[in-house]
Amino acid sequence: MLSENKIESLVDLLKDIERDYGPAALASSFSIEDMVLTDAIVRHTPGINIFTLDTGRLPAETYVLMQKTHQKYDGVVGVYSPDCGVLAEFVQAYGPNAFYDSVEQRKECCRIRKLEPLNRALNGHAAWITGLRREQSVTRTDTQHKEWDEAHGMHKFNPLLDWTEQEVWAYIRRYDVPFNKLHEKGYPSIGCAPCTRSVAEGEDIRAGRWWWENPETKECGLHVKTAG
Ligand code: ADX
Ligand code: SF4
Repeated sequence: MLSENKIESLVDLLKDIERDYGPAALASSFSIEDMVLTDAIVRHTPGINIFTLDTGRLPAETYVLMQKTHQKYDGVVGVYSPDCGVLAEFVQAYGPNAFYDSVEQRKECCRIRKLEPLNRALNGHAAWITGLRREQSVTRTDTQHKEWDEAHGMHKFNPLLDWTEQEVWAYIRRYDVPFNKLHEKGYPSIGCAPCTRSVAEGEDIRAGRWWWENPETKECGLHVKTAG
């Protein structure tokens, strides 16, 4: 189900990034895609950094996986948290669950908990890497393997862009990579706990993310459109 060629191309691309676009970093949300990339980076390209944006609102299962990852891969994942003063002010002003009130407040929560920490995490890097796959969403169909990220002034690589979900699972099983147990409970795509629900059989894989919004607004701003 997962060809040797696909794994070889992935490793080749990671080696190119490590050699020609360093220092580079993988942004990991501990999704199955990010776990594949973490495993491949630890095995083949340890010069690539790995970081996560800990929003403080992740599901308990994601923290269990974060702990397992910490143990298996020797604390390789750097952790970036929101600015606690800015976060406290926002929660004080609008309440802890303001994201349900409007798209604007949802985006402001994502900005404080993800975008600002992302800027700090990317500081000093020449490129970043994500686990985006083309088949994940209507907002991702024209994503490229290598893009210029204008917002951060650096290259952005999406090495698993053309992998299918089955291929990602095949890698996970083959190399015994830890994964989020929520995947076994109807959660194909996992973000923060209050903004993620399970999906029914046959439903879109991102239908459970910000489920109360339209598909077109369902991005947190981490992946703004960039030139190829
Ligand atoms: S999101 O924009 O809807 O939240 P999604 O969950 O699909 O993104 O993840 C796509 C990619 O964005 C992940 O593979 C990862 O590279 C990056 N990403 C998303 N959330 C985080 C996070 N909390 N920390 C680090 N990277 C993240
Ligand atoms: Fe806030 Fe929800 Fe965005 Fe997480 S996904 S940062 S809880 S709005």
